[in-house]
Amino acid sequence: MTTREIFDSMEYGPAPESAAEAMAWIASKGPEFGHFLDGAFIEPGEMFETRNPANGQALAGITQGTRGDVDTAVRAAAKAFPKWAKLSCHQRARYLYAIARLLQKHSRLFATLETLDNGKPIRESRDIDIPLAQRHFYYHAGLAQLRDAEMPGHAPIGVCGQIIPWNFPLLMLAWKIAPALAAGNTVVLKPAEYTSLTALLFADICREAGLPKGVVNIVTGDGATGEAIVTHEGIAKIAFTGSTAVGRRIREQTAGTGKALTLELGGKSPYIVFDDADMDSAIEGLVDAIWFNQGQVCCAGSRLLVQEGIAAEFHARLKIRMGRLRIGDPMDKSVDIGAIVDPIQHAAITAMVTGNSDGETFHAPIDLPDRGCFYPPTLITGLHTAHPLMQDEIFGPVLVSTTFRTPTEAVEIANNTRYGLAATLWTENLNLALDVAPKLSAGVVWVNATNLFDAAAPFGGVRESGFGREGGWEGLSAYLKPAVKLTPAKSIATPKIPDTPAAPSLDRTAKMYIGGKQARPDGGYSQAHYSRQGALLGHTGLGNRKDIRNAVEAAAAAKGWSRTTGHPRAQILYYIAENLSARAAEFETRLQDLCATTRAKARMEVEATLETLFTAAAWADKYDGAAKGVPLRGVALAMPEPVGIIGALAPDAAPLLAPATLIASAIAMGNRIVLAPGEAAPLAATDLYQVLDTSDVPAGVVNIVTGAHVDLAPTLASHMEIDALWSFSPHADSAALERASAGNLKRTWINHAGNPDWHDPGMRPFLAAATETKTIWVPYGE
Ligand code: NAI
Repeated sequence: MTTREIFDSMEYGPAPESAAEAMAWIASKGPEFGHFLDGAFIEPGEMFETRNPANGQALAGITQGTRGDVDTAVRAAAKAFPKWAKLSCHQRARYLYAIARLLQKHSRLFATLETLDNGKPIRESRDIDIPLAQRHFYYHAGLAQLRDAEMPGHAPIGVCGQIIPWNFPLLMLAWKIAPALAAGNTVVLKPAEYTSLTALLFADICREAGLPKGVVNIVTGDGATGEAIVTHEGIAKIAFTGSTAVGRRIREQTAGTGKALTLELGGKSPYIVFDDADMDSAIEGLVDAIWFNQGQVCCAGSRLLVQEGIAAEFHARLKIRMGRLRIGDPMDKSVDIGAIVDPIQHAAITAMVTGNSDGETFHAPIDLPDRGCFYPPTLITGLHTAHPLMQDEIFGPVLVSTTFRTPTEAVEIANNTRYGLAATLWTENLNLALDVAPKLSAGVVWVNATNLFDAAAPFGGVRESGFGREGGWEGLSAYLKPAVKLTPAKSIATPKIPDTPAAPSLDRTAKMYIGGKQARPDGGYSQAHYSRQGALLGHTGLGNRKDIRNAVEAAAAAKGWSRTTGHPRAQILYYIAENLSARAAEFETRLQDLCATTRAKARMEVEATLETLFTAAAWADKYDGAAKGVPLRGVALAMPEPVGIIGALAPDAAPLLAPATLIASAIAMGNRIVLAPGEAAPLAATDLYQVLDTSDVPAGVVNIVTGAHVDLAPTLASHMEIDALWSFSPHADSAALERASAGNLKRTWINHAGNPDWHDPGMRPFLAAATETKTIWVPYGE
């Protein structure tokens, strides 16, 4: 064959990687594997087989973890925790460094074992999965070293239960275990049932690194084992990566337990190509976006949005490129596409594609191997944007495509999904790219590149793609808790109608505050408030579901606030403080009457409220993002963005200061808020709307709905347009709130552990709860 012919055919000879070492490791340590508990492998229990999806061959027997096994693991982790947490940062850093070195030394063994068990091309496990896993431990050795210097006042959470999927088995393990250990936690990790082998090899590495017993425990098994971890009382935090359905179930199961929770779930990430894009690069990028790992990638660019003028040419060129992909034995070094992880997944993909008769389906004209779980690269065009295949995760090598005309339309279609994990955009116009990136509902945006990952760059989703970040300081903080003193939220009884009411003064009925206007309660019920001396102070409306819905609608209409910059937000917060200060004496009297407190204490609360407003104003333009130190010629910008609409339930205590803290921190970061004031003295908060009215706060940015929290909270928790729920209320049922929040997987901040001291709450936790990190990757170069 001449060189020219080779170029034309792009034919490769076989270049098989040897499976001998990996098979020898399986034979020597198995082939039947028990769990790794308290520093040792235990005897195998009830078994299931793990198979090589490329040829169906059984590789090893894996133990199905029981509740008892999980309990043993949790007890080992709990026993190891105090000592591990007490080690110096440097000592923990040394262990993480040792693990990183060992991963590097055994990298080929890990890569081949991963490919045999998962079916991904050896090229990917060798060049992407395993190096990224090593990098994760190196990077986190550094975070472990710097933890106390950079995050003082924080403590590890305890035993972390970690459940990972099968698409990046070792890499997801690294994403979970490295930050947990760096922060000072101990772990019980469950790999996915299809792909347990590299986690078991990792357990071996932990022994080699001399990691203290019980710090890392690996329990194998299926969803039932996962559920035993989720529901175990000894676990303080659950970190999960996998399907949205299971993530939602975990949210429901952990509701009310006080367990910390991070969820990295599914996606249907848009891949947007503008008409000025470098088309060849965009097509190569797309190969990585949707055919990397057979499309079994949570952030796969699985929804192609191509600008109308270039769509025909783009699709034509894409089809040619698809025909040149090499599919086959994943152990062959020149194979692009390997096997789907399991026949069950293969059947699920097949059912979704064959069950559809809309649009046009194109399968790449490539011969598939005779046996094994192979699925051809597939493109489906001509679907409506609301079509199930445009909305649902296929989790296979199947790309769906649509067109758009203008950047505005591109953003609209891109955001027309319940997910929000990642987005990719291609254009030679950087102005356009940087204009569009912040408008996309996604935790990660890649500009003229795709599927870039690094330990330093936070990764995670918004909406139903889950919450929490992995990577960077943001990821570490998900494994730490602030060491602040909390006290249980107490309900304060309101004075009842006195036997001999004082003579009435002029009626002051505080209405609700919705969309910048005073609003009467929909239900037409009100509640009277008396001073301790028996004087009628006024009425507040008893809000209901409809009032909350109206408030959320008003907040949604005020979305322009989320696009403002920190400076004008700060100006408005200062202005609120200025106007409150002018009426300080009036507020002091009100607090004195409402709370039967001394003038001095009332003054302290008004002063503290002014200070909180100043603090929030100060932070409005200083809660900075960061340029992350990723190994790339380019930048990865971690940008704090507002969460969106926050529903908040204020405590009974500090009836002016607490609601002001919630409002100020939320709006300083660009959120809109629907606030239910404390039940004991809501008049302190409703008085505030007169101040807001005179301080240029745009209509709908702050909405105040008074009433009983038992009535208001369920609507706030289940409302699909509310993005985050904060509750400091002694009246709301925390478990019910968290359970109801599973509907749209809103972020929750619930006072299980108690409320902060409102006179010194520390603003950072509020700011963190009020923001999401979006990581925007912009590589440099022509
Ligand atoms: P899955 O979400 O069921 O499995 C992920 C992990 O969760 C596995 O370790 C599994 O054993 C465990 N698990 C399952 N049920 C559980 C439960 N009730 N409690 C605790 N842990 C549980 O995903 P599966 O079934 O493997 O794949 C189904 C679909 O999920 C895929 O087709 C894909 O759409 C999606 N998926 C998304 C992933 C992502 O990275 N976003 C990863 C894997 C799957």
